[in-house]
Amino acid sequence: VMAKLTIAASDTLASFGGKPIRLRPWPAWPRADAGTERALLEVLYSGRWAISGAYSGHPCAERRFAEAFAKYNGVAYCVPTASGTTSLTLALLSLEIGSGDEVLIPGLTWVACASSVFCVGAVPILVDIEPSTLALSLDDARAAITDRTRAIMIVHPFCRLADIDGFVALSRECKIPLIEDCSQAHGACWHGRRVGSFGDIGCFSMQQSKVLTAGEGGAAITNDRRLYEKMEQLRSDGRLFSLSQQTGRLELVEVGEVQGQNMCLSEFQAAILLDRLEHLDHENSVRAERAALVEEMITPIEGVRVLAGQVGVDQTYYNIIFEVDTAAFDGNSIDAISRALTDELDVLVHPIYQPLNRHLLYNPLKSPRAPRDSERRKELDPARFHLPNAAAARRRCLSLPNFVLLDTAEGMRDIPAAFIKIQRLATELRHLPQGSSVDAF
Ligand SMILES: Cc1ncc(COP(=O)(O)O)c(C=O)c1O
Repeated sequence: VMAKLTIAASDTLASFGGKPIRLRPWPAWPRADAGTERALLEVLYSGRWAISGAYSGHPCAERRFAEAFAKYNGVAYCVPTASGTTSLTLALLSLEIGSGDEVLIPGLTWVACASSVFCVGAVPILVDIEPSTLALSLDDARAAITDRTRAIMIVHPFCRLADIDGFVALSRECKIPLIEDCSQAHGACWHGRRVGSFGDIGCFSMQQSKVLTAGEGGAAITNDRRLYEKMEQLRSDGRLFSLSQQTGRLELVEVGEVQGQNMCLSEFQAAILLDRLEHLDHENSVRAERAALVEEMITPIEGVRVLAGQVGVDQTYYNIIFEVDTAAFDGNSIDAISRALTDELDVLVHPIYQPLNRHLLYNPLKSPRAPRDSERRKELDPARFHLPNAAAARRRCLSLPNFVLLDTAEGMRDIPAAFIKIQRLATELRHLPQGSSVDAF
C-alpha cells in the first residue's frame, strides 16, 4: 500500500481536479447473469406475473421464493412483500399494533422503521443506540418501556448486529413482541443461527442497495403459524392461497378475516430473488474476506478504523463502516471527508444516517394522518427524543457500499490509499463545504 502512496508535494485532491486514487470502475451492482435472465424470461412468457393471476400448472415464483427464503433462514414460514417497508407494516399489523400503541425503534436507522410504525397509527419511540454496534441500546430500550409499549423493533444496522440475546430476554421478560429488521443483514448469523429467526417476526428489504435485491421487494419470516397465516391474508387484500389449484383458475381465495392491503411481490421480482439467493452466501463470503483485508490495511492509519467486529457473529457487509477521528484529518467534518473520498474512489461515500429526531425525511406531524389532538401530536414530535449517541455516531462514521467489497483483493488497496491521501492533504480539504449535503442513502 505504502509504495503506491508516495504522494508528491504538488499532488491535489480529486475534488479539486487532482488525479483520483481509483482509476477503474468498481464491480457493477445489482448483479445479474444468464441465470437471472432465464428466470425473468420464464416469467415473461408464463402468463403469470402476479400471485393474483391464474394458476399456470406449476408453483409460481413467489411460492418458490417463500419456501427457499424460509429454508435459507432456518424458519418455518416466509411471506414475500412488495418492499422492506411493507414487510414492517405487515409485521406490525399481524401483531395487532395500532392507534396509540408505542413501538421502540432505534434512533439511527432508515426512515422506514419510523414511518411504518407511524402509518399503522402507533407512536414510534426513538431510542438511542449502542456506540460499539450502532444498533439499538438494550439499556435505553429497557428504560423506554411503558405500559403502552407493544413491540420492540431492533435493526441490525450496516454491518453489525443488535444484542440479540439481550433483546430476546427483554422481550420474554416484558412479554413484548420482538421484530427484527434484517434489511441490512441478509445471511448474517448470531452464534450460528440466522438473524431474523430470533424475533417473533424477521423483516427484510430487497431494495436495490441491499445484498439480496430485485430492485424493490421484501419478506417477513416467522416460526409462528398464527402470525404467518395472518400475514398471508394481510398482504393480499384478505386472500389466501387455495389448497387445491386448478390450471387457469385463480390461486388466491377470498377469506376476509382481516382488513388487508395489496403488499404483494410480483413474479418478476420473485424470479430475480430466487436466482440471486443462490449467490448470496458466496457474495457474502467474498465481502467478508475483502472487509478483513481492508481492516488490516487501515489499522496503521491514524484516526481511521473499521467499526469493530462482534464475537460469535458471522458478519455480513451491506456496507462497510469506518469510524473517523476527524481531528486526524485537520478537523474537517465527516461530510467533507466523505465528499473527498467519493471523488478519490469514484463511488458514493456517505456519512451514516442523520438521527431520526432531526432527519429530513421523518415528518410525522406534516402528515394528514397525524392526530389533531395536541397532546397526541406532542407524542409524535421527533424533536422530543434525545439521541446523543446517534448524533455522535453521525459525526464520526462514514460508509462505503457493499459492491466495493466484491472487487479483487488488490482493488482493496485503493481504500486505505484514499484515506492516506486525504489525510496528507487535509489542509486543502478545508476548502470543501463542511456541512451536510446528503443524509439519505
Ligand atoms: C433498516 C431498513 N429498514 C427498512 C428499509 C425499507 O425497505 P424498502 O426501501 O425496501 O421499503 C430499509 C431500506 O431501505 C432499511 O435499510
